[in-house]
Amino acid sequence: MLSVIFVAASLITSALGQGIGTETAEQAPPITYSTCTTSGGCATHDASIVLDGNYRWIHTANLTSCNPAGFNRTICPDATTCAENCLIEGVDLAGYQTTYGITTDGDALNLVFGSGGSRVYLLDPSGNYTNFKVLNQEFTFDIDISNVPCGYNAALYFSEMEVDGGLSSLNKAGAKYGTGYCDSQCPKGDFFDGIVGLLPPLMVASVNFDGSLGACCNEMDLWEANSVATQLTPHPCEIPSEITCSGSQCTSVCDPSGCDFNPFRMGNPSFYGPGLTIDTNKPFTVVTQFVTNDGTDTGTLSEIRRIYVQNGVVIQNAAVNIPGLPAVNSLSQAFCTDKINTLSDAASFNTFGGLAQMGASLARGAVLVISLWDSLGSGMFWLDGLEGSNPSSPGALRGNCTTANSISDPSTSVTFSNIKVGDLNSTFAGLVPPPISSSSSSGPTSTSSAPPAPTQTHWGQCGGMFYSGPIVCASPFTCQESNPYYSQCL
Ligand SMILES: *[C@@H]1O[C@H](CO)[C@@H](O)[C@H](O)[C@H]1NC(C)=O
Ligand SMILES: *[C@@H]1O[C@H](CO)[C@@H](O)[C@H](O)[C@H]1NC(C)=O
Ligand SMILES: *[C@@H]1O[C@H](CO)[C@@H](O)[C@H](O)[C@H]1NC(C)=O
Ligand SMILES: *[C@@H]1O[C@H](CO)[C@@H](O)[C@H](O)[C@H]1NC(C)=O
Ligand SMILES: *[C@@H]1O[C@H](CO)[C@@H](O)[C@H](O)[C@H]1NC(C)=O
Repeated sequence: MLSVIFVAASLITSALGQGIGTETAEQAPPITYSTCTTSGGCATHDASIVLDGNYRWIHTANLTSCNPAGFNRTICPDATTCAENCLIEGVDLAGYQTTYGITTDGDALNLVFGSGGSRVYLLDPSGNYTNFKVLNQEFTFDIDISNVPCGYNAALYFSEMEVDGGLSSLNKAGAKYGTGYCDSQCPKGDFFDGIVGLLPPLMVASVNFDGSLGACCNEMDLWEANSVATQLTPHPCEIPSEITCSGSQCTSVCDPSGCDFNPFRMGNPSFYGPGLTIDTNKPFTVVTQFVTNDGTDTGTLSEIRRIYVQNGVVIQNAAVNIPGLPAVNSLSQAFCTDKINTLSDAASFNTFGGLAQMGASLARGAVLVISLWDSLGSGMFWLDGLEGSNPSSPGALRGNCTTANSISDPSTSVTFSNIKVGDLNSTFAGLVPPPISSSSSSGPTSTSSAPPAPTQTHWGQCGGMFYSGPIVCASPFTCQESNPYYSQCL
């Protein structure tokens, strides 16, 4: 998603809070997440959900908007003057809900599209973004994506942003106000954010708002999806952390295309969707494992594995089912190179360091980004429809979507819940079936689609909104509610 990145701050005095609006006190909605180890189980942590600074009201002391449609050049002729003149405003809980469609409940985050969707980050109680280091770890969440149709993208990903949001003399707001976004597309626009302080002095002085600057960083897309299509995509950059790019540099440091794994595109049209093997009419669990070559946190990222859990059953990712490509069901450097060669995908993934470079970024740590957005008029076909001119060529179709939305549906919504991060295999439980091979993935397998037993087993789901399986737990377990979308036999 291209976006404007801006932050307001003041250089006039060093008083605390300078640069932050005082109309509304910021109240980031609380949420919990868990960290897990194989030996010690899971521990719950308090955090909150903070709205991106880009979506906020930024105004002068006399409440004139600094950015009615791009920055007002009278108020913001250059970065320093803009910082002196503009304040970034807080949002209270009522505003999060009514203006932005963002609510939390325990470990669950609900995003309603409303008038334009949103982008949020996980904020630590320290006031910095939570810094996740997932190399040799797994990251797991539950999702209810049943109300996200074609043309929308409910995304959960890591960006290697600065954990303090780029606090500087020009940016007094920082992570608490959702500043400092970057990704592998090096988003450009009217540009003024926290990392402006990192620029050479000459550039700071000349920063204008002509759309020539972008913010680049490594991006690991665990989840870009709607109820019809899903994609897992590493996007490495050949830079170690967030940078401000200028001109042609903005297209020469990061891989905007990525090495995507989309089951539909990989020849499994009946794996993911309403009523399919992963039934998007109902909530399910998404596990992503970042395996290293030597099984340590300091190794090289060698494989990204995807596992699903639905109705208490572990479902392996569908294996590739395209002539000329090995029938693997995980993402490795070999898979990415094979795919570039066989499907004529962009080579930028390898140009900018491939899977090893992505792993180096994950080892340094990244910020969790969650968003709900659409692409009015042009569709989200790179995710859910026809990409390229020949629909019959292998890998051209990403999903079953054919028309671009001409108007947004404000009621589109998604719930992410039960976020867990920890040792491999420590964040989920369930009956483990044999891996799904390419020959069996085109139809439901006996393990993944077996009718639910009359009673649910230990760890299995036993209740929750949209859930229709067994609600009685096998003895001696009882059904316990985790959140409105998920109850479990414990
Ligand atoms: C509001 O503030 C801006 C920037 O500080 C200033 O340029 C403008 O003249 C002010 N407007 C009024 C009506 O005071
Ligand atoms: C820009 O700001 C100036 C000063 O506050 C104001 O007079 C003018 O109307 C603003 N322009 C727009 C397009 O809002
Ligand atoms: C926030 O992050 C910055 C940059 O890494 C660090 O210097 C600072 O100590 C952190 N603050 C807290 C309260 O953890
Ligand atoms: C594609 O969409 C059409 C129309 O909604 C539906 O009839 C068909 O079953 C879908 N195919 C798959 C593979 O999901
Ligand atoms: C995780 O589980 C899978 C499948 O059961 C197994 O192949 C793998 O070795 C396990 N990894 C670890 C680190 O325990």
